[in-house]
Amino acid sequence: MKQDSIRPLLDQICTHMGNEQDRGAVASYIPELACIDPAHFAMSVCLPDGTQISVGDAKIEFSIQSVSKVFTLAIALGRHGDHFWTRVGREPSTHVFNSVQELEARDGIPPNPFVNAGAIATTDCLLVGATPKETLAEIVQFMRLAASDDAIFIDPDVASSEKETGHRNWALAHFLRSCGNLRHECELTLGTYFHHCALAMTAEQLARAGRFLAGIHPAGNLIAPGHIRSINALMMTCGHYNGSGEFAYRVGIPAKSGVGGGILAVLPNRASIAVWSPGLDRYGNSLLGTQALEILSQELCLSMF
Ligand code: DON
Repeated sequence: MKQDSIRPLLDQICTHMGNEQDRGAVASYIPELACIDPAHFAMSVCLPDGTQISVGDAKIEFSIQSVSKVFTLAIALGRHGDHFWTRVGREPSTHVFNSVQELEARDGIPPNPFVNAGAIATTDCLLVGATPKETLAEIVQFMRLAASDDAIFIDPDVASSEKETGHRNWALAHFLRSCGNLRHECELTLGTYFHHCALAMTAEQLARAGRFLAGIHPAGNLIAPGHIRSINALMMTCGHYNGSGEFAYRVGIPAKSGVGGGILAVLPNRASIAVWSPGLDRYGNSLLGTQALEILSQELCLSMF
C-alpha cells in the first residue's frame, strides 16, 4: 500500500460517506448508544513504516463494543493456549450475534469467541485467578500497549447502561452457567464483559491497537505469531457474525465489528485499518463502515481472494 495513493482515496471516501443519506440505524438496545449522531464518519490507516493516515472524526471517541472481543481473545489465548478451545468453538454463526437458540443448539458451547455467548465465556476464562478489577486493568493495559497510547479508558455510563438493559446477555450467561460453561457468578463475568465492551477509543487509537494483528506493531509481536494467525482466521470467518460471508465477499479482509459502529480490519504485514460510522445494517455491523472498506479494498485490490 502506497502512502501517496491512500490519502486522496480516504478523502474521497470520507466526502462520499458524508453525502450518503442511508446511514443505517444506531444501536438502540443500549440506551447510551441510542443518542449517538449517525452523521459521524472516521477512517484511519496504519502502515508498516509507522505512517498513520486519518480522515473525518478520527479523533472522536466511540464505544468499541464487540471490537474489544479480539483483544480479550488475544489475552485468553496467551493465558490458556489451546485449552481455551474446550470452552468455545471456531465456527461461523448462522443466527444473530446474541442468539440464545444457537447456544442451546450447541449444548452451551458458543460457536465462536465473537458472538456474545462466546465473548462472555472468553471473559470468564480471563477471570480465572483474577478479580474483575484486575482483569479489566489487564485489558486496558493491553489496549494501551497495543495502541501506544495511555489515554484509553472505559466509559462507566455505557457499561452501567448495558448492565441495566442487557437482558439477553443475562440470559446467555445463565444458560452458559446451567451447562457448566461459566465458572464465575453471572454478575462477575457479565460485569467484566460489559465494562470491556464499554472501552471508548478513537478511530486513530483503534487502528494503532490493531497493528499487532497485522504483524506491524513497532514493539514486535505482542502475542505469539500462531495466535495472530488464529485470530485473523476467526476475524475473517466470524468477525461480522451471520454477515461474515457477505463481508468476506465484498471486502475480503479479516475484520471485527461492534455495535458502536466501529470496524477494525487487518491486512497481514500491510496495514491496520479502523473505520467508524454509528449506523448499523441488519446484522448489527456498521453500514457505511462496511461500504467504506469495500471501496478501499476494491480501489487498492486489498481483498485476500
Ligand atoms: O453485548 C452486547 O450486546 C454488546 N456489548 C456488544 C455487541 C456487539 O458489539 C455486536 N456487534 N456488532
